[in-house]
Amino acid sequence: MLIASRGLSRRAALTGAASVVATAATLPCQLQAREPLRAADTLGSLGAAKGLLVGASFAMHETEKPYGARYRELYLREMRSLTTELELKMPTVRPSRDIIEFAPADQSFDFASKHGLPVRGHTLVWNDNVPQWIKSLSTLDAGYHMDAHIETVLERFRGRAYAWDVVNEPIAPWDRLPGNLRAGPYLAAYGEDYIARSFRLARHFDPAAKLVLNEAFTETADDLGQAFRASFLNLVRRLKDRGAPIDAIGLQCHLKSGKPYDFPRFCAFVEQLAVLDFDIHITELDVDDSAYPRDLTARDLRVAALYRDFLTAVLPIPAVKVLTFWQLADHTSWLYYSDVEKRPSAERRPRPLPFDQNFIRKPAWSAIADALRAMPPR
Ligand code: XIL
Repeated sequence: MLIASRGLSRRAALTGAASVVATAATLPCQLQAREPLRAADTLGSLGAAKGLLVGASFAMHETEKPYGARYRELYLREMRSLTTELELKMPTVRPSRDIIEFAPADQSFDFASKHGLPVRGHTLVWNDNVPQWIKSLSTLDAGYHMDAHIETVLERFRGRAYAWDVVNEPIAPWDRLPGNLRAGPYLAAYGEDYIARSFRLARHFDPAAKLVLNEAFTETADDLGQAFRASFLNLVRRLKDRGAPIDAIGLQCHLKSGKPYDFPRFCAFVEQLAVLDFDIHITELDVDDSAYPRDLTARDLRVAALYRDFLTAVLPIPAVKVLTFWQLADHTSWLYYSDVEKRPSAERRPRPLPFDQNFIRKPAWSAIADALRAMPPR
């Protein structure tokens, strides 16, 4: 299928001449529910009891594995929301200039809507995850295709995702650019305005969805974490001043065993974002356990402790409305897959998530459940 040019309507959106009135999305009903605690508590039900939407990234290809049925059951039992892990990324949707591939995303949305699970759409614009063919375009053409991609995806799925990660990972201090902005074809095409532009387009094409600016690496207590927090906060303030229609800030929170943390300091940063009147979504929580002891019991306890410390600190912040894990079971984690690739014959594999390779709850599950039980209601 070829992309049709809709330059006029996009232009209307960008100049503010759009006829669509931007409205904040209504929260999915899970966010408003108050459930009594039951013996059969799940992470999803414990969150819902406090007004917190709990979900996880979901990868369609996992449902085709021998354990696919148990994978699906786990999500249906434990979760109240899904994030598309790969299906909506530009390399999947636009593998080449002339192809639009919506089949995997269609399947994800169909699975979610069949079971009443609200979807977080991930992600529309990401300078670090660009199909090869975009990289060979002129900056003008790359900018055109950024706009066209937002329009094409949102025309297809309008009203079906309750939230979109509109722009992912705008900061990358190692690129050494002004504002510590991440380099890439969309920054090259529009400068910093690629971000506000993406949000305006997203608001125009999916006016009811919550629009999220998602960032990584803001959690650690080292210099890199500090650079990310300062640069990201400055960027968010500039975007707010320019009236970019951002509803929520997404913080990925891929925690790492080898890194220093100071969660009160991280929470002060979250509060600074919340004061600007944004909801906060924890979007990709997991724990890289590679620096923890080899012994499995000790390792699992350390992972659980990091989840507990992090969530006990951050969940009391009222602006935190969404908690999303990056997958749920260890062997479906991106950390597991990359470990298999890097160390094909290793005996030990990463155990970053609340469920093991048999979909059984681990100490991390109990630590997360305790933090959910202890948090104040929204
Ligand atoms: C990862 C997926 O989990 C992998 O399967 C894929 O190969 C690469 O992307 N930050 C993000 C996510 O915003 O999209 C990334 O997901 C993990 C880091």
